[in-house]
Amino acid sequence: MPDSSPSPAAPARPSAFRRHVWPLLLQNRVLIAGAVVLVGLSGGAVAVQNVFPKWLFSYVLDVEGVATAERWRRLAWLAAGYLVLTSIVRMMFWHVGYRLFTRAREQVIFALRGKFFRHVNHLCLRFHGAHSSGELFSYLFGSPLRAVMDFFQHATMNLPGSVVGVLVTLALFWQWDWVIASLLMVTAGFSVHMMMRARVRIEKIQKDFQRVEGDVSGQVADLLRGNKAVKLHAMETKVAQDFELQADMIRRKSYERDIYSHVEWIKQEGLTYVCYALLMAACTWRFLTGHIDLGVVAACLAAYLGLVGPLQGVFTAFTLWAGASAALERIGAVLDTATTTPDPAAPADAVPATRGPIALERVTFGYEPGRPVLRDVSLVIAPGERVAFVGPSGAGKTTITQLLLRLYDPQEGVVRIGDADLRSFSTRTLRRHFGVVPQDPFIFNTTLRDNLRVARPDADDAAIRRACEQANAWGFIAALPGGLDARVGEGGSMLSGGQRQRLAIARALLAATACFIFDEATSALDTLSEKLISEAIEHNLGDRTAIFIAHRLATVKHCDRIFVLSGGGIAQAGSYAELMAREGLFQDLVRGQQLRD
Ligand SMILES: Nc1ncnc2c1ncn2[C@@H]1O[C@H](COP(=O)(O)OP(=O)(O)OP(=O)(O)O)[C@@H](O)[C@H]1O
Ligand SMILES: [Mg+2]
Repeated sequence: MPDSSPSPAAPARPSAFRRHVWPLLLQNRVLIAGAVVLVGLSGGAVAVQNVFPKWLFSYVLDVEGVATAERWRRLAWLAAGYLVLTSIVRMMFWHVGYRLFTRAREQVIFALRGKFFRHVNHLCLRFHGAHSSGELFSYLFGSPLRAVMDFFQHATMNLPGSVVGVLVTLALFWQWDWVIASLLMVTAGFSVHMMMRARVRIEKIQKDFQRVEGDVSGQVADLLRGNKAVKLHAMETKVAQDFELQADMIRRKSYERDIYSHVEWIKQEGLTYVCYALLMAACTWRFLTGHIDLGVVAACLAAYLGLVGPLQGVFTAFTLWAGASAALERIGAVLDTATTTPDPAAPADAVPATRGPIALERVTFGYEPGRPVLRDVSLVIAPGERVAFVGPSGAGKTTITQLLLRLYDPQEGVVRIGDADLRSFSTRTLRRHFGVVPQDPFIFNTTLRDNLRVARPDADDAAIRRACEQANAWGFIAALPGGLDARVGEGGSMLSGGQRQRLAIARALLAATACFIFDEATSALDTLSEKLISEAIEHNLGDRTAIFIAHRLATVKHCDRIFVLSGGGIAQAGSYAELMAREGLFQDLVRGQQLRD
């Protein structure tokens, strides 16, 4: 059975960075290149700033046979050069570079976030069944994208300056004394080697952290969403304890991550002090053997201190890259997940207007491998027919509708409309063919109007009102302050259960599609409302096909045919009268309800 798992990796597959981030960087290459050049120049300027004391020493103060006026003239040039360098190259380039970069960064993150959101939205219910909404939210606004953004920020804004700073300083050393320059290069190489080793470990810790954060976000979102149940069952203390456990997990992972990074940081800092001591010894030796003068000694020591910042910048780049690459691997795994209900390469334009019958041909389907819910089910629903699926809870009634809507594909057999396999349509085209009232209609946290327009975005208020009247919903909508503009709260929490159902019915009627599915659409309504709505639906349907699912069997009396599902198959089929005339499950179900009533 195909599962919504990452597609198997080809042998030489480019990294997630190459596939998902690089193209976005290329799109913003002018901005990024501009920022890197400006910030690089500004970093070089910082390195040069560090050597001004040497030039002050060598050209102004410690020179023989130069008149005082000439010394002041030289100082003026030196000071002017310093100010131009700092104000124009350092500050202005830095600021303009930062502007360019910030624009590019926000564009890249915007695009990556959008790509992730669109992809996740498009993924099948199998994927969504395995990933909670809280976890997916944490990808979009939690540490994975933040880690990528932090690295990108550092790589553009600090790294070029750091690298140029290191190179300029090394070049200056090289010009002053090749022995000291070589010593510094060897220690810089050693330092980079240590950073690379640390990066591997930090990447692993980051990956752990992000996984824990994703899991915890999912669980905490669930606890918050279930707040009403928490109150009803007086679970506040237990939930608070659960939350503390989750938060503690995050605390421990953050601690582990930050302490390890800090230890590596300390090691790097220790290395710079060792190098400084070596440098002092080397300078003394080279001075005593007459290879360098005091000015160079002072410059070497000052320039080395100026080198520490850029070297730390390089180290930071390594640690941030560890976080970003862990994040990209996780983001890439989601982006590389293929839907199990893919659109065909060349989808049929529209579900045919002639609307042939809907047919399940020898369909076997299970949500999990080896546990079929439907086994070898075949049935045909003629155009314009009213059919009902009834049967015990868990028999697979809703599952059949999910197959019709291609929320899942069967493992065996075919579902067709007319002659066409459902897989020949794009899922969008197919789903627009159906008006659905699901068993658990989802109400968005927005206005009533927006909730209704989900079915038909261009519907005007007159059409909305008509649909609401048919669904017996206009009365309560008109009574709400704001009417169609009233907001309904998260999950429609400001509406009653029956109001939510009527809203969902109005939504489906508004869609005015060729085929309707009503899954327990009136189960929360009183019998009078149910009767009114059923009549309105019947009136509205005309010659359109309709599928009803109901436990209250009296409500499906009017259907042309009733399929009784049980044990993974169709146990009985026929009209209400035919089924009542036979011994069997249907009769038992009806009698059971009559007794109860
Ligand atoms: N997303 C899912 N993942 C795994 N199993 C599922 C999923 N949805 C449903 N099932 C299982 O599939 C079986 C059929 O579920 P289905 O929702 O089709 O039942 P139903 O006939 O509509 O029941 P009810 O009358 O209670 O709504 C059940 O055993 C259920 O546990
Ligand atoms: Mg159901």
